[in-house]
Amino acid sequence: MAAKSGLNIMVFLGSVRENRMATRVGKFIQKLLEKRSHTVEIVDPKALDLGEVIQPLHFYKDPAEAPAILHELNDKIKKADGFVVVAAEYNSAISPALCSIMDNFPPLSYAYRPSAIVTYSMGQFGGIRAAMQLRQFLSELTTVHMPSMTVIPKVHEAITEDGEVTAEGPLTKASEAMCKQFEWYARALKNERNSSGIPK
Ligand SMILES: Cc1cc2nc3c(=O)[nH]c(=O)nc-3n(C[C@H](O)[C@H](O)[C@H](O)COP(=O)(O)O)c2cc1C
Repeated sequence: MAAKSGLNIMVFLGSVRENRMATRVGKFIQKLLEKRSHTVEIVDPKALDLGEVIQPLHFYKDPAEAPAILHELNDKIKKADGFVVVAAEYNSAISPALCSIMDNFPPLSYAYRPSAIVTYSMGQFGGIRAAMQLRQFLSELTTVHMPSMTVIPKVHEAITEDGEVTAEGPLTKASEAMCKQFEWYARALKNERNSSGIPK
């Protein structure tokens, strides 16, 4: 059987907070995906500094008036094989930073690609309530979200600043299971997009 080629994956971070945990979780996911031979692009709302959505790209009457960074990111989104969202839970909900960054782009840019959900919190529930909301949000963006998720309670104890797990166990197992499912869907959907296109 031919070796499976790596995928082109965008990882969205969902926090711009000072001393945020998002950085370490992003590193953990990046290492995990790169170990599996994928190419990773981190979309970091803090580095991009776009703030709240002023005008989504698809709302510009003249798209040429939109900031170049929105066009650049949109082109990358359209070329990606799938998306991983790394989401904090703020007041039992998806964090504003994650919604804002993803809301900037038309659902069609994300369409017919898989999305994987990674949530975390410093408490014991790991952001599971945000994860449930993310399923709805990611469906609206026309992605196919994975049944397997990675939910990380006590993130400050579970992952080091360098993105290493502090103990092998349920987190390693869950994240690897999520990756396997995500890779399967990413390849299946890619094959179908390449052979049949997407519905118009
Ligand atoms: C505004 C705000 C709301 C929060 N709400 C929740 C919550 O609903 N559930 C929870 O488990 N943790 C909550 N937390 C704690 C977060 O889990 C913790 O701060 C986590 O590190 C946030 O991710 P970040 O550091 O990447 O921003 C909240 C934190 C903030 C700043």
